[in-house]
Amino acid sequence: MQESLDQILASDAPRSALTVRGWVRTKRESKACAFLELTDGSCFRGLQVVVDAALPTADLLPQVLTGASVEVTGDLVASPAAGQKWELQATEMRLLGVADATYPLQKKGHTPEFLRSIAHLRPRTNLLGNVFRVRSRMAFAIHRFFQERGFFHVHTPVITSNDCEGAGEMFRVTTLKPGSSAPPTDDFFGRPAYLTVSGQLQGEAFACALGKIYTFGPTFRAENSNTARHAAEFWMIEPEIAFCDLRDDMRLAEENVRHLVRVMLEECGEELEFFGRLVDKGLEARLRQTVDKPFERISYSDAVALLQKSGCPFEHPVVWGEGLQTEHERYLAEEHVRGPVTIHDYPKAIKPFYMRQNDDGRTVAAMDLLVPGIGEIIGGSQREERLEVLLEAMRAHGLSEQDYGWYVDLRRYGSVPHAGYGMGFERLLMFVTGVSNIRDVIPFARTPGHAEY
Ligand code: 4AD
Ligand code: MG
Repeated sequence: MQESLDQILASDAPRSALTVRGWVRTKRESKACAFLELTDGSCFRGLQVVVDAALPTADLLPQVLTGASVEVTGDLVASPAAGQKWELQATEMRLLGVADATYPLQKKGHTPEFLRSIAHLRPRTNLLGNVFRVRSRMAFAIHRFFQERGFFHVHTPVITSNDCEGAGEMFRVTTLKPGSSAPPTDDFFGRPAYLTVSGQLQGEAFACALGKIYTFGPTFRAENSNTARHAAEFWMIEPEIAFCDLRDDMRLAEENVRHLVRVMLEECGEELEFFGRLVDKGLEARLRQTVDKPFERISYSDAVALLQKSGCPFEHPVVWGEGLQTEHERYLAEEHVRGPVTIHDYPKAIKPFYMRQNDDGRTVAAMDLLVPGIGEIIGGSQREERLEVLLEAMRAHGLSEQDYGWYVDLRRYGSVPHAGYGMGFERLLMFVTGVSNIRDVIPFARTPGHAEY
């Protein structure tokens, strides 16, 4: 395997007879020579390659256009140009793959909408290349965060028959012919099956065995909301912890966000500089504040009271007992706190059946972590561990004990207080990159009407 450009660019001495392979980002030509900017995807920076017009290999230059792939051998020498340490003085060049003038990524800037229409080529742009390098590093940092704290990674199923969130937003999985009137018992699994909306319920079974676990996988929601923050397929990180209450859960969630922001600041400097310059000028300041300042916490009831007193002309009225809308969440994070804030203890009527009922009888031990620019990035709760209270909540939500028998068993056999949360991976990426549309932080976005790749 070839040495990658980020390693070559970090060389501390000149080198001779070096071979590099990559794609041509730009070409500039003068009478005496051509300058190619070559990238291999390993980092944002490219390598400047100088091809002397007198070289036999220079005959290839008319075919070496933006997007073409080439192999170049030459000497790595100190570059006289500003902003780069090294350049490659070519002695030989080979054209690996042509890209003619129809290549859609010519030098001019492109709109995000256009780039989404060429999702197979857009990772080659500066913006998306930086996003996806950060995405990979963040995924690794998430595993590191949990593994270093003694959590076990559990692979929860993608196909399930449980609607964890109870919102009825599930994609059906079936082998029955379209239009078939056969009952679900004739279907592949002998019962209705769906793509999971969350690995939490199965995660709870494992937390009640291995203690501290996390899942990190794709989840699916058939909600028809065409917003910049919703995707039909997204990745979620879900820790679940035995012997844990809501306070500990909130603390872990805050530490988790702060840790990942620190990784962005410390390990993704080149990308951060790019995003700060071209995507969101306030990004670095916001991230620094996130690691420096403790996160605030506000109870749902206090949040409702202060929203009502804010005097803001919200589109949706603020009423105790109803969910907070995005405009309310953004007011709290952007105007009131001006930073991340955790809202806790929500009315039980608007939350799923599994959340632990508080002593007041009308709220549950739930929490949402909100960040400026996005709103909810994490949702979690302490789980109802008391058998009778859980059964009562299931009845209230119209769920049958039979369908969730295995889940109820966890309360029958050695039940313990436990808690967890789900962090939307793409929402986290939007927060650390400043990219404002979820479609631009996921390789091939699935949203209503879009699954062409
Ligand atoms: O708040 P949610 O629905 O919580 C759960 O699914 C719990 N079972 C998690 C748990 O306690 N283990 O989703 C969790 C997070 C949200 O805060 C949000 O960041 C993200 O998942 N999310 C979405 N991200 C992108 N597109 C969507 N349609 C999303 N729906 C939720
Ligand atoms: Mg939520």
